[in-house]
Amino acid sequence: MSSSFGYYPPQVSNNGFTRTKTISVTSGKGGVGKTTFLVNLSKALANLGKKVLILDGDFGMANVDIMFGNYSKSSLYDVVEGKKHLVEVISNVSKNIDLIPGGSGVYEAQNLTSAQRYILLNEVSELEKKYDYFILDTAPGISDNVLYLNSSVEEIMLILTPDPSSMADAYALIKVLNTRCKTKEINIICNMVKSEMQAINLYNKLSDIADQFLNIRLHYKGHISEDLNLRHCTQNRRLVLDQFPKSLSSQSITKIAEKLVGYPKEEVPCGGLQFFWSHLFSVAS
Ligand SMILES: Nc1ncnc2c1ncn2[C@@H]1O[C@H](COP(=O)(O)OP(=O)(O)OP(=O)(O)O)[C@@H](O)[C@H]1O
Ligand SMILES: [Mg+2]
Repeated sequence: MSSSFGYYPPQVSNNGFTRTKTISVTSGKGGVGKTTFLVNLSKALANLGKKVLILDGDFGMANVDIMFGNYSKSSLYDVVEGKKHLVEVISNVSKNIDLIPGGSGVYEAQNLTSAQRYILLNEVSELEKKYDYFILDTAPGISDNVLYLNSSVEEIMLILTPDPSSMADAYALIKVLNTRCKTKEINIICNMVKSEMQAINLYNKLSDIADQFLNIRLHYKGHISEDLNLRHCTQNRRLVLDQFPKSLSSQSITKIAEKLVGYPKEEVPCGGLQFFWSHLFSVAS
């Protein structure tokens, strides 16, 4: 897993020269904006010329296709059942973005057997050369499949909001990933915040607790402001990046995508006056 403090070298578009980078978007608490972030991040990466494959890994409540204004007929369930090959259920949802639908209501797939998981991973590995990024949406919480998906990727992006229960649930997920799955690094995105300072405060609090009790490093990867335009877009099955590219949330998501592909050079979160003051406030509070 890459360090958020390190520099990501620029990736060339993936024609077999680089590996597909695998990323999960996850959370302890539900409704914190995972799917919204994932679809818009994918769009931001696509705008940067990257090829993205999304797996809707929220098997119980799959809705990534809907966010792109699509309704998928076949899904991962058909692959799990052995009725279709993975390539047959992949659909193009936007320029440079393909989707493997999880299948809404496919509760059975919440408990894939190890044999089914093996088949799935084998088929996924066939797609390696086609995509720059493979991004998974997960269900919230600490179910076995959430842990399994998160422990399968290079980089975990954990979404957090200022809601105290989101912090508590995030910590619960981090703890179980660290203790049971031996995860050593997790990236934190703070969503629905009022300012970057609030985001850094949230990150600092979580990171301080993790430093104290766990053997894991949390990396601050950015924030997304509470944005009514974004909420409105989700309700209308549109992407905020398409509809309001200049809005604060679009700019923040684009910044996160740019960091991911390696430019501009990664910012160090513990630098600058803003960090100093937010750290001071967080210690004082
Ligand atoms: N930055 C934001 N500003 C305003 N509203 C937001 C923001 N991010 C997400 N939302 C809204 O929060 C709601 C939940 O978002 P979303 O469905 O993406 O969450 P989720 O974490 O995927 O939920 P679940 O755990 O149920 O899968 C949506 O109505 C979405 O528009
Ligand atoms: Mg979701």
